[in-house]
Amino acid sequence: MNPVAIAEPLRSRWSPSVFDPEHVLSDVEITRLLEAAQWAPSSGNRQPWRYLVAPRGSATHEALVPHLSRGNSGWVPRASVVFLSVVELGQDGVELSDLLIPTHDVGQASAHLTLQAQAMGLAAHQFGGFDHEGVAAGLGIPDTARVLAGIAVGVRGNPAEVPERDAVRDHRERHRRPLAETAYAAWGVPWPRLQPSGPTVAERR
Ligand SMILES: Cc1cc2nc3c(=O)[nH]c(=O)nc-3n(C[C@H](O)[C@H](O)[C@H](O)COP(=O)(O)O)c2cc1C
Repeated sequence: MNPVAIAEPLRSRWSPSVFDPEHVLSDVEITRLLEAAQWAPSSGNRQPWRYLVAPRGSATHEALVPHLSRGNSGWVPRASVVFLSVVELGQDGVELSDLLIPTHDVGQASAHLTLQAQAMGLAAHQFGGFDHEGVAAGLGIPDTARVLAGIAVGVRGNPAEVPERDAVRDHRERHRRPLAETAYAAWGVPWPRLQPSGPTVAERR
């Protein structure tokens, strides 16, 4: 559990690397996750996100797996479903070179999907370690779009069933740099009124 008093499901979210390879997500659950992304805010409400949905064993999943990096090839295929996030730039006159804000928007939609998974009692782990060009070619993604990241979703599995490297990763201590190095009053100057994390509003009553 996250040590700071932020709201659920932000607080309990983390990225496990051991998924149960027998668990299947229903189409209703997968749809619910996609709806969380669908209702994310975006610049001009352009919704530049697209998701390739790859339930374990589907043709899309089989096309993705050979392109995973070595570090991801053990744990990703065990997840119940993988969503591949794609930024679509070929709409509404958005220029291909204008990647910044659309990519920001896709990241935010993916965050919503990930948090919805956590709220549904599922686990999600995003990953960028795969051959993006190979995946784009294998899945017929057009030049107007760019594959960004994968989101593996499922339930946690038995660490005894996976290579030690993946099991160890599941127990890794989580770290963040101090907030003073993130929150600035002026560039490089920590915002001076940061407070130690207190109880949440709900807990205060
Ligand atoms: C865009 C993106 C790419 C990532 N790529 C990988 C990856 O290729 N392999 C991996 O094991 N984890 C990957 N991660 C997971 C991060 O390592 C993880 O979120 C980070 O260490 C913080 O841990 P936490 O999610 O448990 O808080 C990625 C996360 C994001 C958001």
